[in-house]
Parts: sequence; structure tokens; C-alpha cells
Amino acid sequence: MSVVENSKLTIVGAGSVGASAAYAALIRGSARQIALYDIATKKVDAEVLDLAHGTQFTGSSQIIGGSDISVAAGSHVVVITAGAKQNPGQTRLELADVNARMLGSLIPQLMEVAPNAIYIIVTNPCDVLTALAQEQSGLPPERLFASGTVLDTSRLRWKLAERAGVSPSSVHASIIGEHGDSEFPLWSRATIGGVPVLEWQRDGHPRMTEAELDEIAISVRDAAYKVIEGKGATNYAVGLSTAHIVEAILGDKRSIMPVAPVLSDFHGIDGVALSVPCIVSASGATPIKETTFSEKELRQLTESATTLRAAADSLRS
Ligand code: 2OP
Repeated sequence: MSVVENSKLTIVGAGSVGASAAYAALIRGSARQIALYDIATKKVDAEVLDLAHGTQFTGSSQIIGGSDISVAAGSHVVVITAGAKQNPGQTRLELADVNARMLGSLIPQLMEVAPNAIYIIVTNPCDVLTALAQEQSGLPPERLFASGTVLDTSRLRWKLAERAGVSPSSVHASIIGEHGDSEFPLWSRATIGGVPVLEWQRDGHPRMTEAELDEIAISVRDAAYKVIEGKGATNYAVGLSTAHIVEAILGDKRSIMPVAPVLSDFHGIDGVALSVPCIVSASGATPIKETTFSEKELRQLTESATTLRAAADSLRS
């Protein structure tokens, strides 16, 4: 994409997710200026230098950064990746307590220097933390939301694309709900080149069965555990999916993707942040209330909402 004039993106956290998001945004030209912020001075300075050393080979984006919160001043978009990450076998929800405390001290500082930004929470559990950060910031729900299941959706599209023998961009299918163990695919809406997923077949690519779709859903749900087991963290795909969301905002694209703002009156769900199809544009993320669900999907969505509400409530008490 061509760089949006005068746009500024700040990425908070120079760990593997933040650095990969900055790398993806730099290569893709997601913003004119990309700032990386972290309290660990040596680490953030080193990441910024390393990224800057490659700018001969990228577009016209500039990379800056440091350990002073003023580097975020005037941002149009702020992406928060800072915080503890999962250890092998640990769930995202188990990070809630420690990361909620970190976010609680970060949000007021960021709001001070970047009051007009749109905020994307990537730190896990991203949906639970979004509910708390939205209350704390007082921002309208569309202006502070979680990256949610955009990444899981990309994992699903890759799996289906491999199976069907087509490009992931020709697969229309989404994971919604919690970015975590209660997430699920919106199978009733899934198509490959306009063909319902269960009807797709080509030479060498026989029809998929419901049992196979269930296996695919499980492998997508558990994908991060597998990567974390092997290399200690996930970073490249989450970096790319973050850049994709940022571009929809800065380019005012009105792209539809499953991010997680706090919902109100969404098929009976209120006051919980969870991923549902949203229009993402310069004004932020707006849930598409007209999305229709099968009975099973609505039950799964409600169960996901109950899980996330309980997790957020336990942090409030
Ligand atoms: C992921 O799904 C761990 O939330 C991170 O890759």
C-alpha cells in the first residue's frame, strides 16, 4: 500500500510482537512515521536502530522510538503489545492479572500524549484487557478495540486455502469470539470463491466433511500453543495482522474483519469486548449488527461472551 500522508503509528512494547509489528508496518508502508516505545531503553533503542538500518530497502516510512512516552505524541494509531507473554501450555486468560496492571498504568500516560489516537490492544488476553482499558480511557468503543481474531482468521484461511488448492485471499471465512480457547469459525458464512465451503471440490481436492472442518477449527484454536511450544512466542503473523488492521484505519478502507470492541446490543451481548465482524475505517471499528448466525454459532458466541465477562469481572473485583 502507498504510505498515508502524515500518518503516525506508535507501537508500544519492543518485544518480539512489537518489533515484528514495526517490521511489518515498515516493509508494508503502513504509516508515514512509525514510533516504537518501550520502558527498556537499551532494547528499544537497539530495535529502532536495527529497523532504521534497513530503510534503504523499504518504502518512505520513517522509524523512530525510545523509552520516553513523548515518542507517541500526535499518533493517529497506537498499538499496544507490551506485557507478559504465554509460557508453553499457559492460556491467554492466565495473563490477565499481570497485564491488566501494566495496562492500567500505561493507558493514562498514552492518553495524555495521544488523546486523538485510535487504540488497538494486542497484549493478551486482548479482548479482556480491551474491556478494562475502554472503561479506564473513557474512549468511545469504536476507538479502542482488540486485534481479536484477525490473526486466527488468517490461520483459518491459510488452512482452508491449502486444503482447497486456492489462495488464502480467495477464502472468505472468519474465526470469531474470544481470541483464545472458546473461539470458533463462522462456518455458516464460509465460502471459497463464492462456493459454500462444504460444497467446494476440484481435481485432487475432494469435498471436505464436517468432521474435517471440526479438525481444522481445533488446529486453528490451538495453533498458538504449537508455535509457542516450538519457539517460545508467536510474532510474525501477529505483526502482519496488526499492520493489516492499522492500514484499514489509516487508509479509511472500511474493511470488514473480526476485531473486538466493547459490544452493545449485539445479538443480546452488552458490555463485553469480543471479536465479531466489524467495519474498520478512520473512525475505528463498528460491529456489523446485521451479521446472521446459526443457532449453534449464536450459542458459541454467547458462551465466549460469558467466559470473557467473567474474566473481566474478576479483574474489576
Ligand atoms: C497468538 O495467537 C499468542 O495470541 C497470540 O499468536
